[in-house]
Amino acid sequence: GRRVTVRDLMAAKERGERWPMVTAYDAMTAGVFDRAGIPVLLVGDSAAMVVYGHDSTLPVTVDDLLPLTAAVVRGSSRAMVVADLPFGSYQSSPQQALESAARFMKEAGAHAVKLEGGHRVLPQVEALVSAGVPVMAHLGLTPQSVNVLGGYRVQGRGQSGEELMADAKDLERAGAFSLVLECVPADLAQRVTTSLAIPTIGIGAGAATDAQVLVWQDLMGLTPRPARFVKRYSDLATEMDRAIRAFADDVTSGAFPAQEHTYT
Ligand code: KIV
Ligand code: NA
Repeated sequence: GRRVTVRDLMAAKERGERWPMVTAYDAMTAGVFDRAGIPVLLVGDSAAMVVYGHDSTLPVTVDDLLPLTAAVVRGSSRAMVVADLPFGSYQSSPQQALESAARFMKEAGAHAVKLEGGHRVLPQVEALVSAGVPVMAHLGLTPQSVNVLGGYRVQGRGQSGEELMADAKDLERAGAFSLVLECVPADLAQRVTTSLAIPTIGIGAGAATDAQVLVWQDLMGLTPRPARFVKRYSDLATEMDRAIRAFADDVTSGAFPAQEHTYT
């Protein structure tokens, strides 16, 4: 079958259907999520933390994310694969944004890109869309700006909520096909969602957005101290700890490999 398209996501909003999005960074997990029917897989720059072990998203580069993106595309067959443009790969100019996006699409097979910010990136969004690149926008807590925001905290309270609303409308007008809202009050996310024709994708933005996204290691219980907005659907850290200790014990005791694991 064919991949999910931007038109499918617009149609879902018109029908009032909510949908899930999740991050993916490798072929096998992408395959699991794809076969479960997740329509959009995000190769987030959160890879900086959950794959590469950095303590913010700032250090990760296009060259770091390209092979992960290619793996997610190869491991999936139905999902739209969105590549996050990392810090420093699009802010300089619309031309820089287009060069970075073209690498993700040509070298990795991404179907769309995501970038962070409001009015400052409107020229980038317009240039990408006119070049044929679907753009997912991202407002609220934009982790690439953590040093300006002063930490990972709720955004858009008070007057800054009106600025966020104006940015959201401008991003839609510039041609973005969807908008991530991260760590904003639920009532603001609701107002943005009803004000836009494009789908909103919430993470810590309450229940009214058209879609919800989580980092897969957060929702599976691999991350040690997840944010308030994370719901854990599994306890993989505990399960993996149990399994690796059992393997280690079996090796030291000689219980593994047994006859059935052995070629005669
Ligand atoms: O990098 C990422 O994982 C993201 C999502 C959490 C929206 O940007
Ligand atoms: Na990101």
